[in-house]
Amino acid sequence: MKVSLAGLELANPIIAASGTFGYGIEFEEILSLESIGGFVTKGISLEPIAGNAAPRLIQTASGMLNAIGLQNVGVEEFIARKLPPLRRYPRANVIVNVFGYTVGEYIAVIERLNQAEGIAAYELNVSCPNVHAGGMAFGAEPAELEYLVSRASNASTRPLIVKLSPNVTSIAHMARIAARAGANALSVSNTFLAMAIDAETRKPRLANITGGLSGPAIKPITLRMVYETAQAVDIPIIGMGGIITPADAVEYLLAGATAVQVGTASFADPCAVERLAKGLESWCRSHGVARVSSLTKALEIPRD
Ligand SMILES: Cc1cc2nc3c(=O)[nH]c(=O)nc-3n(C[C@H](O)[C@H](O)[C@H](O)COP(=O)(O)O)c2cc1C
Repeated sequence: MKVSLAGLELANPIIAASGTFGYGIEFEEILSLESIGGFVTKGISLEPIAGNAAPRLIQTASGMLNAIGLQNVGVEEFIARKLPPLRRYPRANVIVNVFGYTVGEYIAVIERLNQAEGIAAYELNVSCPNVHAGGMAFGAEPAELEYLVSRASNASTRPLIVKLSPNVTSIAHMARIAARAGANALSVSNTFLAMAIDAETRKPRLANITGGLSGPAIKPITLRMVYETAQAVDIPIIGMGGIITPADAVEYLLAGATAVQVGTASFADPCAVERLAKGLESWCRSHGVARVSSLTKALEIPRD
């Protein structure tokens, strides 16, 4: 079940997604943090962020809409309080999700994290609004993405995973830019900009008005994006979007992913990642797959 990715050795391809698994340590009593391929922490910024007003999470048809507002404890508190207890699990891959509102903030967070122990890799959330570009996400503008990833790649002493935004015209184009700028792997993708309205009250359902859509509703779109990304770049891809069953994970591997992340599923079942790691192993056994890594990019396209 092992896979290697950007220099990391994962026990299996199942990784818990950012923003849906706290700082990891909250899960220590309900599952084994070393039984999964790894987990990505909540996005970490230079200063603590309180997040948006409620309601900030609502259920949609086959999915979920969130506008948490990047709430987090900030890099100093993360290093002082959240990271040390995770050292009880030396075989757990702790991937720290990083964001900022300026390139300088991203770099400052990475430089501070470089000094801390017990981190396997960084995942750069480029879906954050860029205050110097009128609030447009870094990952939505090719030149901004290239500059941010090249600066982050130079600053980082650890593998750098770039988490692409799906809110772009061509994910393949953005993937090529991120790879050329120094990304060691790509996560595909973040949530889709979306909104929900209550017809009775005539009000938006989220206090923030808009939010990000995740869960099974997005799976066919993100699967297509993983496929297109795998055709465009040679670096490893972490696929995600609506994974609930082991077969969902297999579909992402076939499309070109080396590993997958699981987010929304953990809201319905907090042990979803451990269940999926075991379920994927059973799936491989029952389908005569000796090595899970052999599924990556093994999509068979009928030609006649
Ligand atoms: C409540 C919530 C909070 C999230 N917070 C973050 C975050 O801080 N940083 C980030 O890169 N992605 C964040 N995400 C996006 C997820 O990591 C993931 O990319 C997305 O939800 C798609 O996967 P899923 O359909 O399995 O949930 C968040 C998602 C949810 C549902």
